[in-house]
Amino acid sequence: MNNRQLFLQHVAQTSDAPLALEIVKAEGMYMWDADGKQYMDLIAGISVCNVGHCHPKVVKAIQDQAQQYMHLLVYGEFVQSPQVSFAKLLTDHLPNQLNCVYFTNSGAEAVEGAMKLAKRFTGRTNIAAFNRSYHGSTQGALSILGDEYWRNAFRPLLPGIQHLEYNNFESLEQITSQTAAVIAESVQAEGGVNPPNLEWMKALREKCTATGTLLILDEVQCGLGRNGTLWAFEQLGIVPDILILGKALGGGMPLGAFIASKEIMWTLTNTPVLGHITTFGGHPVNCAAGRAGFQALLEEELIPQVKAKEQIFLQHLKHPAIKAVRSVGLMMAVELESFEVNKKTIDYCIAHGVLTDWFLFAAECMRIAPPLVITEEEIIAACKIICEGLDVVTK
Ligand SMILES: Cc1ncc(COP(=O)(O)O)c(C=O)c1O
Repeated sequence: MNNRQLFLQHVAQTSDAPLALEIVKAEGMYMWDADGKQYMDLIAGISVCNVGHCHPKVVKAIQDQAQQYMHLLVYGEFVQSPQVSFAKLLTDHLPNQLNCVYFTNSGAEAVEGAMKLAKRFTGRTNIAAFNRSYHGSTQGALSILGDEYWRNAFRPLLPGIQHLEYNNFESLEQITSQTAAVIAESVQAEGGVNPPNLEWMKALREKCTATGTLLILDEVQCGLGRNGTLWAFEQLGIVPDILILGKALGGGMPLGAFIASKEIMWTLTNTPVLGHITTFGGHPVNCAAGRAGFQALLEEELIPQVKAKEQIFLQHLKHPAIKAVRSVGLMMAVELESFEVNKKTIDYCIAHGVLTDWFLFAAECMRIAPPLVITEEEIIAACKIICEGLDVVTK
């Protein structure tokens, strides 16, 4: 059997139609398959590789740390310098009240931790989330996920969850002094890139403050420069009580985090002690990689270029089959007529060496979320292939 057959046979599958490309090398904007074919990565491993694949400083940090030590003991016991210095670096770049980092293995685990923290801090049990939001696949994250089709097969889920309408002022009335937390994506990603109305976001912040409810912002997908600022919430004019990060946080390695004030975070330390623990969360190699990736993101001044690169995409994504393009920085959804048109165009792009994808709750939208290192020439080349694909598919 070849590797593809072994993959289908022995590696658990998530759908009956995986892409099943066999990539043997990746660097910067590109990946190469076993036949030497090159692919331009327009989705950055789903918003992970913000500084590009295998950034040399990230690779070096991994090598150096792996030679020093890897796993030592469960999270929270030893002083591990990669964790400490990354937590310090992150909090140096956050508002004062977001000064304490709990590292996890993934975005979903950070969501779980944030939900538990909010319950613990407020002594309340209800959590409000939004329709068309995605927060991960574990059962707590699934309970707050904003689409009944994906939730339903896994019931019973957590009780006390309310689903509200994003950008809807009236739905804020459902947030009360019973609500432990409201969790929202700073920009809804899997809904097909839905940015919040700024007035609504302000009203949400005010309602949470007035009811003693914690506001949790999930920036797993939109944070770390993708929207054109280091944190997406900078563009919203508010600060959350808890910030959730993942994906690009590890520079290509698995790492998530929930970040709050020391005062809020302290409630996880007692009654019960060890109420939230993890073996591998904040793995030293992953923290070293994340720190190097974060530094590269800042040193290479990638974030100030994001808005200009977004404009180049917008200029070149012109085709009669494109109904709309929604974007916040380099997080873009190209809306087409149907999933069929989208899927055929995606297949054309992949066949022509450009990797793209669709969205979980917006299957008619093509995902564009490239590494932030993408150049003007690469943007133009990618848009040309997408438009050629649309010509062929819709002719
Ligand atoms: C906004 C958002 N939150 C949370 C998650 C869950 O992250 P993970 O897949 O690392 O568990 C995702 C993953 O796509 C996400 O997009």
